[in-house]
Amino acid sequence: MPKYLDEFHPPTRLLMGAGPSNVNPRVLRAMSAPLLGHLDPDFIGVMDDVKSMLRLVFQTNNNLTIPISGTGTAGMEAALVNVLEPGDTLVTAVNGYFGGRLSDIGARCGARVHQIDTPWGEPVDPAAVESELRKHPKVKAVAMVHAETSTGVLSPVEEIARIAHRHNALLILDTVTSLGGVEVAVDRWDVDVCYSGTQKCLGCPPGLAPITLSPRAEEALNHRKTPVQSWYFDLSLLSSYWGDNRAYHHTAPISMIFGLREGLRVVLEEGLQKRFQRHQGNAAALRAGLLALGLELFAKDGCRLPSLTSVHVPSGVTDARVRTALLRTYNIEIGGGLGPVAGKVWRIGLMGENSYPSSLFTLLSALETILTGEGYEVAPGVALAAAQQVIAGAT
Ligand SMILES: Cc1ncc(COP(=O)(O)O)c(C=O)c1O
Repeated sequence: MPKYLDEFHPPTRLLMGAGPSNVNPRVLRAMSAPLLGHLDPDFIGVMDDVKSMLRLVFQTNNNLTIPISGTGTAGMEAALVNVLEPGDTLVTAVNGYFGGRLSDIGARCGARVHQIDTPWGEPVDPAAVESELRKHPKVKAVAMVHAETSTGVLSPVEEIARIAHRHNALLILDTVTSLGGVEVAVDRWDVDVCYSGTQKCLGCPPGLAPITLSPRAEEALNHRKTPVQSWYFDLSLLSSYWGDNRAYHHTAPISMIFGLREGLRVVLEEGLQKRFQRHQGNAAALRAGLLALGLELFAKDGCRLPSLTSVHVPSGVTDARVRTALLRTYNIEIGGGLGPVAGKVWRIGLMGENSYPSSLFTLLSALETILTGEGYEVAPGVALAAAQQVIAGAT
């Protein structure tokens, strides 16, 4: 019998890379519920619940708040393609791999893109955004990544939103690696378009991209001179399915939306503030453990992301050998570096379901064992002791 006829039983991994992260069992259970039709009145109730809970998680009253069908990049495309028309000017503030993707998609929308480059490992600088906006008379939007997953850096948003608005530009914000784990306050920060992905701090599988548009962004959408280039991501069409009309647009991924509903319930039951503190506390313990191993953190002090820690691969140690040993011997996945830091950094996610002492203790202990086997000298137990001290101090 060919092997493909065998049932597939994936191993149970501890997913501590850059995402996807492990999924709450309640979410998996919700996803295995019987299907409903995408216009079934009972499903419409589920859609309403998802919209209400997304507003709470984004901390917004924005009417247009829905999950886009697709991964985080679908959220990014939807954000840019709805805001930009050919010939518009876009300023991108780039401090890593995903910021670069904003520029790429912006250019494909036909926009003139002015990219501000910040060294990897550092946050976006509001002063650089201000000076770029002064150079160009009519900027339609500024786009940036809140939590840059390629570097583990958190950038300031509120001040950049103020600067963008002073220049009559909209602010587009990527919160793929922050929403649900790190504060994202759409209304308080006055963000115009904010999108995320379900597979990181929201504790769901990849496949949906929550997005929210401010009234200012909706107005820009309503006053476009040209139709949105993408039919699938056209938010005016999508909002007639997600709004009162319930008009068919595309067949909604029903099971994914069941899963997101449950994932959002889990987030809100814990409470946003408690969840943010949990992510911060566990990241502090992980960093203490890595430093005790003699490793050097990649992201600059003061802007380190709680949901993802980047750390230099120590000299004399081969990146791939360590990650393979973690996966094959300990069932732990961590991320390697992207682009210019490929082979030079590890990226360790403590997101949603994995931001717990049990995950970071397991990883530190495995990492210490592997590094010792690779000839890297380290005193036994130092990493765990340092991490335990931080956890004990926090409880
Ligand atoms: C900050 C950021 N933006 C966008 C994306 C793209 O999301 P996806 O891979 O789900 O399409 C990612 C994925 O890791 C990300 O980390």
